[in-house]
Amino acid sequence: MLLYIDGAVRTESRTRELADYLAGKFICNVEYVRLSKENILPMNLKTLSMRDESCQKGDFSNPYFKYAKQFAKADELILVAPYWDLSFPSVVKAYLESICVVGLTFSYSDEGIPVSMCRAKKLYYVTTAGGTIADDAYGYGYVKALAQGMFGIDEVLLIKAENLDIYGSDVYKIMSEAKRGIDKLFT
Ligand SMILES: Cc1cc2nc3c(=O)[nH]c(=O)nc-3n(C[C@H](O)[C@H](O)[C@H](O)COP(=O)(O)O)c2cc1C
Repeated sequence: MLLYIDGAVRTESRTRELADYLAGKFICNVEYVRLSKENILPMNLKTLSMRDESCQKGDFSNPYFKYAKQFAKADELILVAPYWDLSFPSVVKAYLESICVVGLTFSYSDEGIPVSMCRAKKLYYVTTAGGTIADDAYGYGYVKALAQGMFGIDEVLLIKAENLDIYGSDVYKIMSEAKRGIDKLFT
């Protein structure tokens, strides 16, 4: 199963356009989660307490855990993450927070090192930016560190299209080049 995590907010999202092109390369069952249409909220004291208690008991029956369960069983992952304020929309962070669950997506070894409980070994991070993406890659770099460090996802690929909002930019050309880049990944 390919899990398509859609963190784009705009209806006419160019990041989603790119990710749809990528998803078209896969011949498998695809599950979509459109984050801006889900009710994924930042953690509060109530959620945090519920999580802690559930993890201690090993009881993950609360609907809150559905995203973590779905993430853990995905074979491949696409994360749609438009470049917002040097990283990505906050709903993506809220989602990531909700899937970092001890006992579902990772556990800890006796030495306190995270051990993956996820099936996927590859994640495609798809982004588009109005300008140029900062070298520090706060969005991609963060997701890569999280995916590799906690979820054992070794390969985290960046697919991007930049400078889309620069006056005079040829958006069609930039997007086409990004799609040719995707083609190359599958030849
Ligand atoms: C809230 C918001 C914040 C943004 N922040 C940045 C930014 O920090 N740097 C940048 O180059 N573009 C920024 N942009 C422009 C987007 O990255 C660009 O328009 C992108 O293609 C939007 O993706 P979408 O078409 O999938 O919505 C921002 C756009 C929005 C709406």
